[in-house]
Amino acid sequence: MIENAQILLVIDNEESAKYLMEHLIIGGGYSVTVEATAAAALETFKQNSFSMVMTKLVPGDPEIPKLVRGLMEIDVDTVIVGYSEKVSPELYQEASKFAFYDVIVKPINIDRMFFVIKRCMDLHGLLVSQRRHLAILKEQNNSLQKQNILLAKRIEESTKNLARLYEDLRSTYLRTVRALAQAIDARDHYTHSHSENVAKYSVLVAQEMKLSVKEIEGLREAAELHDIGKIGISDSILTKPGSLTPEEWVQIKTHPQTGSQILEPLTFLSDVIELVKEHHEHFDGSGYPAGLKGEEILLGARIIHLADAYDSMISARSYRRVPFTKEAAIAEIKDKTGTQFDPEVVNAFLRIADAV
Ligand SMILES: [Fe+2]
Ligand SMILES: [Fe+2]
Repeated sequence: MIENAQILLVIDNEESAKYLMEHLIIGGGYSVTVEATAAAALETFKQNSFSMVMTKLVPGDPEIPKLVRGLMEIDVDTVIVGYSEKVSPELYQEASKFAFYDVIVKPINIDRMFFVIKRCMDLHGLLVSQRRHLAILKEQNNSLQKQNILLAKRIEESTKNLARLYEDLRSTYLRTVRALAQAIDARDHYTHSHSENVAKYSVLVAQEMKLSVKEIEGLREAAELHDIGKIGISDSILTKPGSLTPEEWVQIKTHPQTGSQILEPLTFLSDVIELVKEHHEHFDGSGYPAGLKGEEILLGARIIHLADAYDSMISARSYRRVPFTKEAAIAEIKDKTGTQFDPEVVNAFLRIADAV
């Protein structure tokens, strides 16, 4: 006998029931339970596990829809076979209407009956195992989805934390180097607030030239740090009252390069570093350290250069106690347009000159 090969027989004719039972139990080795009505069959079906149901099928019998609906509610994979005393066209229509797997008709061909029952059992086994696999897959899917959600949340939190840490680190570094730049300005009381002023003029010119918010922010940072390389130059040179010797000039000219080297480890300042390096280049190529020309020099560096020169001219210096008047400084800038200064930067500066 096939394991768990239990058949529920729903039939109200005692003689037919006896005949079928004999063959199914003795000939087929199946375990058979007989019920006479749909209600009793459903009750038994609920309590036990069956591989298939064989029911008497008479077209138009109201018991059939009741039985089929009830069986499907209990187990959607139930395989049903009809049994009929006589054949008629309506019989197969009815069997098809209620999705019966097959119909056994009197006179019964025993071999065919066992063949049909065997196929029903196989089909039921297949449906049950498929449903079990589907349930396992569903469960695994749910668990994976839950893990995915958890993972996504963790990644989001970590990313937020990293972004916050990066921003904290960046602003701490900036505050430190800014403080360093201010300390350098303060070494010589004549240059006090120089970097701050250069940043202010640079931003005004950049806004006039319609640079992007990001570019202007980078320019402001570069202007605040542009002379940071002066940390390596001695006070005696920086605050010397008279003119500098050629050797002293060589030392002064190292500060853009030194500044960029100081900032180099701060990778988030990469744009700023180049501006610091180029802030003493002249438009005609006569500046330092690289002797870059025209648009070889970054626009931001050309702007800082002009702002730097303007602030130096209108401020007192150890080597020049009386500063230029604003008008004299502007005249000097106009005079050096195209040689020291970029004409476009000068034009923008002249347009905002009243505001500075
Ligand atoms: Fe400088
Ligand atoms: Fe400067």
